[in-house]
Amino acid sequence: MSAAFVSVEDLSIAYGGFQAVDRVSFGIDAGEQVTLLGPSGCGKTTTLRAVAGLERPSAGRILIDGKPAFDGAHGLDTPPEKRNLSMVFQSYAIWPHMTVFENVAFPFRVRGRPSVETRAAVERALALVDLARFAERPATMLSGGQQQRVALARAVAFGTKLVLLDEPLSNLDAQLRLQMRDELADLRKRLGFTALYVTHDQEEAFSLSDHIVVMRGGRIEQAGRPQEIYRNPQSRFVAEFLGMRNIIPCELAGTGEGARLPDGTVLRGRDVAPGTAIEDAAIAFRPGDVRLDDKPGEGQGGSGVVARSLFVGDVQHVFLRSGPVELCAHVRPRPGLDEGRTLFWRVTPEDCLILRK
Ligand SMILES: Nc1ncnc2c1ncn2[C@@H]1O[C@H](COP(=O)(O)OP(=O)(O)OP(=O)(O)O)[C@@H](O)[C@H]1O
Ligand SMILES: [Mg+2]
Repeated sequence: MSAAFVSVEDLSIAYGGFQAVDRVSFGIDAGEQVTLLGPSGCGKTTTLRAVAGLERPSAGRILIDGKPAFDGAHGLDTPPEKRNLSMVFQSYAIWPHMTVFENVAFPFRVRGRPSVETRAAVERALALVDLARFAERPATMLSGGQQQRVALARAVAFGTKLVLLDEPLSNLDAQLRLQMRDELADLRKRLGFTALYVTHDQEEAFSLSDHIVVMRGGRIEQAGRPQEIYRNPQSRFVAEFLGMRNIIPCELAGTGEGARLPDGTVLRGRDVAPGTAIEDAAIAFRPGDVRLDDKPGEGQGGSGVVARSLFVGDVQHVFLRSGPVELCAHVRPRPGLDEGRTLFWRVTPEDCLILRK
């Protein structure tokens, strides 16, 4: 592996007696994106702000481009403006009294850059986010998505090698969000900057990242490539957070012998690494991996009565009950999924994960 462009080592940040970030370590290779993913309050923003130099850690080390930016043991703390990075905040933080051009030019102005250089760079950045024609408009006379693009242009215009993004898409509606997500991926590919990204949205994390760091309560719960984390969550917390909505307590025999559900159904699944951080053994699978039929069929599964059936557009959320077992299936909407019906559900061993104590 190449030397990391950003290296966060044993980072701890305390607010009074409260440990907001607790011995967090990860690296970002040059040109790659690492995403901090986790529920509200888990320490994502605090970690990002520490990398930016806006938060003073209580311990640990942060290296950027090989140089220490923070070193708790040696009392070293480089100020934000010397860290050579740019940041996009959750609220787009554009300046309302400035035009689009002036907003993007702002970092150049505070650094006293010549206006010829500034103009060229700003025009290039605005073209990248498709806003060149709005350069002279007051920034407030833009839609939310366009304002977000101004913030992005400002972050990339200066050509810093490291860009920090804190939920940059969270203020956008669903459709714009998807569009901006693609644009962001494209922009990073074209410009090649290294990115540290923060979100609580798993789809955003999966689609944009080279590596994902799942955080919980200030600590790293699991880190790895998107596919790896999606396929092999190492704890009940990560499984749940990544959409394994069906986590059913079960009795386990030996490895590969299957799991007995409380209603007697036996399912086989993939064993994850032992030592999974759960209280009770469980079998986990995603609602989208469940098939529903009117008749019993091939493969493993059981039957249940539809307790609730929710139409949400592309999919129907069907909740089945079989004795003490409840499970959820996401299937294509069709007739015959009504409440009160008895349906047969199927899930392949490949899609089931055994979570051992
Ligand atoms: N200035 C502060 N003083 C005291 N506690 C703080 C401060 N800033 C953050 N915290 C606490 O530290 C923890 C982590 O906060 P942080 O903002 O990093 O969470 P987050 O993961 O970014 O959450 P969200 O997804 O809601 O933005 C939270 O419990 C928060 O209440
Ligand atoms: Mg935050």
